[in-house]
Amino acid sequence: MTAVRFLLNGEPWSEAGVPPTMTVLDWLRGRARLTGTKEGCAEGDCGACSIVLGRRVDGSVRYQAVNACLMMLPQIDGCSVLTVEGLASADGLLHPVQQALVDADATQCGFCTPGFVMAMFAFHHGGGPAEDIHDALAGNLCRCTGYRSIVEACRRIASGPADRFAAEAGTIADALAQLPACTDYRHAAQIFLAPRSLAALFDAMAQFPDAVLLGGGTDLGLRVAKDREPLPAVIATAGVAELKRIASSAEAIELGGAVTYTEALPLLDEHFPSFGALVRRLGSRQIRNLGTIAGNLATASPIGDTLPCLITLDATVTLASRAGERTLPVESFITGYRKTALMAGEVIAAIRIPLPAAGVEFATYKVSKRFDQDISTVIGAFRLERQGGKAVALRAAYGGMAARAMRAARIEAAFGGRPWTPAWLADVEALLARDFTPIGDHRGGAAYRLRAAAGLLRRFQLETSAAAPMRLEAL
Ligand SMILES: Cc1cc2nc3c(=O)[nH]c(=O)nc-3n(C[C@H](O)[C@H](O)[C@H](O)COP(=O)(O)OP(=O)(O)OC[C@H]3O[C@@H](n4cnc5c(N)ncnc54)[C@H](O)[C@@H]3O)c2cc1C
Ligand code: FES
Ligand code: FES
Repeated sequence: MTAVRFLLNGEPWSEAGVPPTMTVLDWLRGRARLTGTKEGCAEGDCGACSIVLGRRVDGSVRYQAVNACLMMLPQIDGCSVLTVEGLASADGLLHPVQQALVDADATQCGFCTPGFVMAMFAFHHGGGPAEDIHDALAGNLCRCTGYRSIVEACRRIASGPADRFAAEAGTIADALAQLPACTDYRHAAQIFLAPRSLAALFDAMAQFPDAVLLGGGTDLGLRVAKDREPLPAVIATAGVAELKRIASSAEAIELGGAVTYTEALPLLDEHFPSFGALVRRLGSRQIRNLGTIAGNLATASPIGDTLPCLITLDATVTLASRAGERTLPVESFITGYRKTALMAGEVIAAIRIPLPAAGVEFATYKVSKRFDQDISTVIGAFRLERQGGKAVALRAAYGGMAARAMRAARIEAAFGGRPWTPAWLADVEALLARDFTPIGDHRGGAAYRLRAAAGLLRRFQLETSAAAPMRLEAL
């Protein structure tokens, strides 16, 4: 008999009697009778289901907001789970975050407020600067009435945690350390495995060859949250130590196959600020705390945001299986519309991004209908090597322009070796039309996509122009 064990609002819980594909949201509302956490969209967009997970890190606890609607119950094994019911103290004293919302007249309807409270709690404990408020709230969609006062409440608590959760961090961490890990959860005919090492992962994959591999579940979770699919076997990568590896050297950065966006961001910000800025627009904090770059690659969506960047930066992907490892350029890993070179028994073990030589410029731009938490209509990524005012080599890759993320071969060939001036920009659209035949859909027509893609390259030229470089955001 196996059980998922966790702390729920400070109390130890053990659950062995529900399907592993039951969402954390359904479990909270149905089984634990904690109905403060709401279901709005059931697809990670609205934030009404935001809860906070505390994980043990270096003898303390790190808190992160996540969307309970996308998570399967065994994903909270070993965590301290906080819901809106658990923040006030036993004597009814409101948590500083709740009090700030009251003081700033920032409470809204009962549907969205609990999610805002939890996102703000995570922000309060995240140690980010006050400028991060917008980012911290981007995953909580309601803008009905009092958004400005919510921002004001957030500003008041931005100075950091001075609450009982901070005071008790060591005790909570010790309690989490006592929880035995659940690596094999079964219910009726369903199974959820959570291996802790690569060897155990390969064993699990060999035993259940048809099992679904689960990263953060921000793509896969929709199959259980929205489609209610009773997946028979799931194998989670999040606990596999080797896949959590993050390394950097003078040549490259390397991100393991279970590294989340949030974990990757410091290195991306340091070496590829434009890539970091893009990742901050991918989903919300709730999504980035769970989602992985490996999951984005394996999904191979034509509008997967990281793909054009990884292609442009000559990143490689290491695929591992029991038989050994092989390494492929990301460009050849993506083979078609939602198709990859991943073979049965293989897992994405790591993604390696070489650091560009000094003087090489890189930028990526995303066009979406909404700035935050929206998937791309078109995304472009560019890398430029210059010598004496000439573009020695230009690399350009796009998403949203074809069935998969692809390089713009004619653009690259036409502009390599030519003066890096706006003079050639007039030709861009025609060349792109020979490289791509984009589809039209509700996000944008084919002509719009071509024009937008050309605009992104023009923007790159302006921002890297030796004569008058400019940041367009600054205009
Ligand atoms: C609200 C919302 C907003 C989003 N916004 C964006 C956005 O702006 N841009 C964007 O690109 N995406 C977006 N996404 C999609 C999603 O967040 C990303 O694609 C994410 O990177 C998926 O990673 P994951 O770990 O959650 O993958 P999962 O959902 O766990 O898995 C996705 C696929 O990858 C496979 N997989 C996972 N890890 C591995 C591995 N190590 N080896 C082999 N296969 C693996 C799984 O088997 C599955 O097929 C959004 C999703 C949501 C719900
Ligand atoms: S219910 Fe909308 S994000 Fe979960
Ligand atoms: S959804 Fe609550 S006020 Fe908008």
